[in-house]
Amino acid sequence: MAEVINGKSVAEDVVSKVKTLTAELLVKGATKPGLAVVIVGEDPASQVYVASKSRTAKECGFHSLQHTLPADTTEEQLLKIIGDLNADKSIHGILVQLPLPGHIDAGKVIQTIAPEKDVDGFHFINVGKLGTGELETAFVPCTPAGSMLLIERVRGKDLSGLNAVVVGRSNIVGKPMANLLLAANCTVTIAHSRTRDLPALARTADILVAAVGRPEMVKGDWVKPGATVIDVGINRVPAPEKGEGKSRLVGDVAYAETAKVAGAITPVPGGVGPMTIAMLMANTVASAYLAAGLKRPSF
Ligand SMILES: NC(=O)c1ccc[n+]([C@@H]2O[C@H](COP(=O)([O-])OP(=O)(O)OC[C@H]3O[C@@H](n4cnc5c(N)ncnc54)[C@H](OP(=O)(O)O)[C@@H]3O)[C@@H](O)[C@H]2O)c1
Repeated sequence: MAEVINGKSVAEDVVSKVKTLTAELLVKGATKPGLAVVIVGEDPASQVYVASKSRTAKECGFHSLQHTLPADTTEEQLLKIIGDLNADKSIHGILVQLPLPGHIDAGKVIQTIAPEKDVDGFHFINVGKLGTGELETAFVPCTPAGSMLLIERVRGKDLSGLNAVVVGRSNIVGKPMANLLLAANCTVTIAHSRTRDLPALARTADILVAAVGRPEMVKGDWVKPGATVIDVGINRVPAPEKGEGKSRLVGDVAYAETAKVAGAITPVPGGVGPMTIAMLMANTVASAYLAAGLKRPSF
């Protein structure tokens, strides 16, 4: 049976390190890390995420600021708020919760965030730095950055000689994940909905990352024996066995059958999920260190 990679425990380690780094920053006389989270509209899932991010930021000892804006906020008003946060020296990280209402151009909003405060890693400058291997100063999107930490726990930092297959090519997960694996010396293949014979390709992977958004799509017989399987997917499916109208979370990997073949696997929930918020905190404390002219801490 595969080793179960405990993302909750690794995320707790990251948050604990962020707390220590924050305390050390204050001892050095630098400004406390500040994280601003901006949410527009009433989307319930977004509100849960934002509340959780603000709560963890406080737990880390950060200055935590939340802008909760009505759904009819104009693009101009939102851009003005971002401009103000860009200029605010007490803020080191700015996060705009997506999705934004349809009348706002999300791309324009993201590109307005100062790259050195873009702790989500979505600004073109940070995308470009990751793509060119400038990892010392890049902010890397939190979910792939967290997935990479989980891979390192199993395989170490140098992945030379290993084949990695990333299923999914989104800008938020698949592409940055592939770039991180490449930077760690993997031979990387990115698969997507137009890939031919995905099961055969997946079977070549020493490290298989599923970021698709399709419940339990990756089957046990797609997996090379001993492979490290990282399941990024979060899918809610009906669970009538728990009672009428009930649901449960599953990943993009058929967990039970894959765990019999893989060497290590992340569960859903409790795998990649908890890492995302932890890495947001890691990026924010790193931003505060860089703003203070100090060496960027590594995780
Ligand atoms: N753990 C976390 O904190 C976290 C964070 C973000 C996302 N997620 C989860 O991760 C999953 C992926 O998220 P995302 O934002 O990357 O999704 P996305 O933007 O919808 O991208 C999905 C990718 O999967 C590919 N795909 C879809 N069907 C496929 C198929 N049958 N075979 C092969 N590839 C297929 C798509 O290919 P094409 O490009 O060809 O369409 C696309 O590249 C979702 O379940 C999401 O909920 C989790």
